[in-house]
Amino acid sequence: MMKARVGADTCIGCDLCEETCPRALMMVDDKAAVQVEPVPAEAETACQQAENDCPVKALSPE
Ligand code: F3S
Repeated sequence: MMKARVGADTCIGCDLCEETCPRALMMVDDKAAVQVEPVPAEAETACQQAENDCPVKALSPE
């Protein structure tokens, strides 16, 4: 079971993670936010990809 955390102070609102993993991440006030927890099993791979691709590494698993 995977959870995700967004470092709101680090996120620059690039929106890449929402595009990569819309099932678990959404944009709120131009910052990424976790919209469902734990991350659904079918979205874990995409969420992992979003964490890897974030340009400022603002996402982390828990
Ligand atoms: Fe923010 Fe990184 Fe997503 S900058 S919007 S957490 S890809």
